[in-house]
Amino acid sequence: MTSWDGPAAIRQSPPVDLSVPYDAAWVKDKVILITGGASGFGAGFVRQWANSGSTVIVGDINVEKGDALVREVRNETGKDSVHFVHCDVTDWQSQVNLFKEAVKLSPHGGIDAVVANAGIAGADPMQRPRGLNAAEPPEPNFKIMDVNCTGVMYTAHLAYYWLPRNPGSTPCNKDSAPANTTRDRHLLLLGSIASLAPIVGQPQYGAAKHAVLGLFRSLRATSHLGGVRVNLLCPYFIDTPIVTTLARVVLAGGAMGKVEDVVDAGTRFVADSRILGRALVVGPKVTLKQLDDGEWDLVSKDTPGVIETAVWEPCADDWEEVDAFDRNIVRILNAVQASRGWIGWAKDMIKAVLYGLGYGRS
Ligand SMILES: NC(=O)c1ccc[n+]([C@@H]2O[C@H](COP(=O)([O-])OP(=O)(O)OC[C@H]3O[C@@H](n4cnc5c(N)ncnc54)[C@H](O)[C@@H]3O)[C@@H](O)[C@H]2O)c1
Repeated sequence: MTSWDGPAAIRQSPPVDLSVPYDAAWVKDKVILITGGASGFGAGFVRQWANSGSTVIVGDINVEKGDALVREVRNETGKDSVHFVHCDVTDWQSQVNLFKEAVKLSPHGGIDAVVANAGIAGADPMQRPRGLNAAEPPEPNFKIMDVNCTGVMYTAHLAYYWLPRNPGSTPCNKDSAPANTTRDRHLLLLGSIASLAPIVGQPQYGAAKHAVLGLFRSLRATSHLGGVRVNLLCPYFIDTPIVTTLARVVLAGGAMGKVEDVVDAGTRFVADSRILGRALVVGPKVTLKQLDDGEWDLVSKDTPGVIETAVWEPCADDWEEVDAFDRNIVRILNAVQASRGWIGWAKDMIKAVLYGLGYGRS
């Protein structure tokens, strides 16, 4: 019995070569649904993609901002290919309606890309507990989890319903020709640097964004089944309304990234249909040099061999075997499976069937 070959099973693409330019025009004629598209990155994406000839359906809870953005972009492009639909991502039916409306508005009756972008941050009840003297612990407000985790799960679930049904699309593959792959099946998730590292004072936000990372890693492992490609953006702190005054005070003296760099990285994912199952971190633009041990060092602009970038690929060698522990445990489990062979597999199958019939349950 052979061991599981993660990368081959996932059929994901190799690390993203950021030195190779993509063509933003590859998004032309795509139909893109974005949640939380009325502000921040979302609004940046909407402007960029509408100006490149896509149809964009914006689902957001903020009607005022959403309507204003659509008016502005329609004026800019002279086309009515941007639409606003009120949507609260925490409400299942509201998202069902958003997707149905997007399909109705789509010139070809399908959706090429879904961007699960809506998100919130804010005061965390675990960091500032109230009612500590109350007889009963007060119920915490888990709104951040509702929007950033449950809302994203709903969006991903609906994306997996609609994307494989996209008329004219074929299962995604890393050898596709992006210039000719207008009909796509792409889910782009918005993680955060808080998907990869702890975020002090924001445990709920950190938990939700780690969940988005888990969702990404799990979905891409079966992406070959529905032919949906799944990618992830992990921005560092970027100057948008989500960054509260308190956060700005805490971050003072550090460097914040720019919306345009997030839009650039997201557009690469949406435009380039050869990218499957990859993640990009976006931060402030810096000048770097790679050292002999592979680590990056901050250097001045005139250093020989310097590169300027705001985008990195974390763990570009793939997250199936992200660190020594994973690699070790996966190898051991594969060895156990190999040593048990087909007889072990057959025994487990019989046990599973019996269990399904109600035998052997405690
Ligand atoms: N700006 C950053 O520093 C940063 C860093 C990492 C990740 N992110 C993530 O990027 C995404 C976009 O954030 P942003 O920085 O553009 O923030 P933003 O506040 O400018 O935009 C978020 C949008 O989501 C919408 N929204 C909030 N709750 C909603 C709901 N229940 N239903 C529908 N829409 C809702 C808001 O109305 C807003 O338009 C979020 O998922 C955020 O967590 C942001």
